[in-house]
Amino acid sequence: MTLTGRPVSYWIDSTLPSSYPALSQDVTVDVAVVGGGLAGVMTAKLLKDAGKTVALIEADRIGAGVSGHTTAKIAALQQLLYAELIDKHGEEKARLAGESNRAAIARLADLIATENIDCDFERKANYTFATDADGLAKVKAEVEATQKLGLPTSFVESVDLPFPVTGAIMMADEAQFHPRKFMLAIAATLPGNGSHVFEQTRVSTVEDETPCRVITDNGPTVIAQDVVITTNLPILDIGLYFAKTYPQRSYLAGGRIDASRAPQGMYIGVGKGYRSIRTTPTDDGGTLLIVGGEGHKVGSEEATDERFRRLESYLQENFGVTAEYRWSSQDFVSFDKLPYIGAITPAHQHTYVATGFSLWGMAKSVISAMMLTDRILGREHPWADLYDSTRATPFVTPTSIQQNLEVGAHWVGDRFKGLFDSTDSVAPGEGKLVTHQGGKVAAYRDDSGKLHTVSAVCPHLGCIVAWNQAETSWDCPCHGSRFSCDGKILHGPAVKPLEQKVCD
Ligand SMILES: Cc1cc2nc3c(=O)[nH]c(=O)nc-3n(C[C@H](O)[C@H](O)[C@H](O)COP(=O)(O)OP(=O)(O)OC[C@H]3O[C@@H](n4cnc5c(N)ncnc54)[C@H](O)[C@@H]3O)c2cc1C
Ligand code: FES
Repeated sequence: MTLTGRPVSYWIDSTLPSSYPALSQDVTVDVAVVGGGLAGVMTAKLLKDAGKTVALIEADRIGAGVSGHTTAKIAALQQLLYAELIDKHGEEKARLAGESNRAAIARLADLIATENIDCDFERKANYTFATDADGLAKVKAEVEATQKLGLPTSFVESVDLPFPVTGAIMMADEAQFHPRKFMLAIAATLPGNGSHVFEQTRVSTVEDETPCRVITDNGPTVIAQDVVITTNLPILDIGLYFAKTYPQRSYLAGGRIDASRAPQGMYIGVGKGYRSIRTTPTDDGGTLLIVGGEGHKVGSEEATDERFRRLESYLQENFGVTAEYRWSSQDFVSFDKLPYIGAITPAHQHTYVATGFSLWGMAKSVISAMMLTDRILGREHPWADLYDSTRATPFVTPTSIQQNLEVGAHWVGDRFKGLFDSTDSVAPGEGKLVTHQGGKVAAYRDDSGKLHTVSAVCPHLGCIVAWNQAETSWDCPCHGSRFSCDGKILHGPAVKPLEQKVCD
């Protein structure tokens, strides 16, 4: 089956490109926010509304990262979460997590209403459904856990999906929106009165001094009292966030559905091969059905086109929908299921991070913005301990030990990959690791026969990148950096491109 979806996110395709200037001279503000995704845009917005001058600095374009490639369900019910939180952290912390997600959704809804933002925001019922007995047991445990925490959930025996389910947990009054319409509208409110938005400005490092200095590839510097790093995974290695999370890639496909046949809520399955499902209104009055799933660790799969194929078949077989869009992205999963929000380390009191959203970052981006704004304003926050970025738990969980062992195995073992010593073996459309003059080279031959060769050594911490066929990219299996076939950075934490290599 050939893929029918165009390889572009619907959210990006249905919004105009933004065109904020690049940083061209030194600028001084109260707070620099690095990374213009949902977490960065919201943090800059709340800080500016609180009277701070801000500079939002984005390497690419506003909302072009994960937040422009998400499913954008704004949800407190996050598949299965609260039974595990009670188990790992106790009832009190789990209750606070539920309350914070609900409060963040309310804060977002309020902002959208007061600023009259046109972003297809809709209140929706949110379901986690099971299709077998094992899934049903998990769903029932989640119903019990959420109800114990006072969250407004109920168990339902059926949902309006065109296949049988064994049961589902439902939370009413959750929400969804068009994330890029929202981010662009908020970004537009930032410039002026000493505040700025800069695009095409990659930050290479931050010096936490008094004041802080944000160093960019462009040359000029942003000088600020405080710096918030919202680059999905922090670009700075201090604080070891790359070792406290793992990068998970996930896929989406969308196509038009007749509104009369479209499911009314937001849905996610449980167990292996689960699917995430929602609809969105299109600007011409139609309805797009979006289906997601097929997740895996970044850099662990070469035949990624198979993932899209399975999603497109799912759309067709279950809903009679032909895919028009397909896209994918990744997020960083925290080992203890809670995000890291706060100072980057206890010793750095003016550099903050927000990361580890675990593929549920819409509400958590707002939580981050609320908490970091209070922190910078010197106000105490009731969620500060729960999400403390410097908490010392995750290195001892079985998942974190396994993940960090896998990173070590990649670091050593992947050096033995790519034993081909000539790029002649790279066929058109193929990406392969080759050995050239003793070094590992990542070689891709495009359909016209042109060879693109770059170093296979990830500039972050030196792992060997792996080929991603559907997206013609080189992906690092260690901490999720991704690069185009010409070595350009597609996703951090790397702040340098793959080195160019000439193989003759
Ligand atoms: C497929 C998929 C589906 C998802 N579905 C949902 C969902 O339904 N509901 C939900 O709640 N969550 C969902 N998530 C998770 C959610 O989308 C993310 O948690 C959230 O978008 C992350 O936002 P962010 O601001 O941290 O990252 P981003 O949106 O990636 O923003 C980070 C920005 O930093 C910029 N940047 C990086 N490096 C630099 C640098 N050196 N200098 C300057 N800028 C830099 C990037 O270009 C980027 O724009 C999903 C995630 C995926 C992958
Ligand atoms: S992302 Fe860390 S080594 Fe590549």
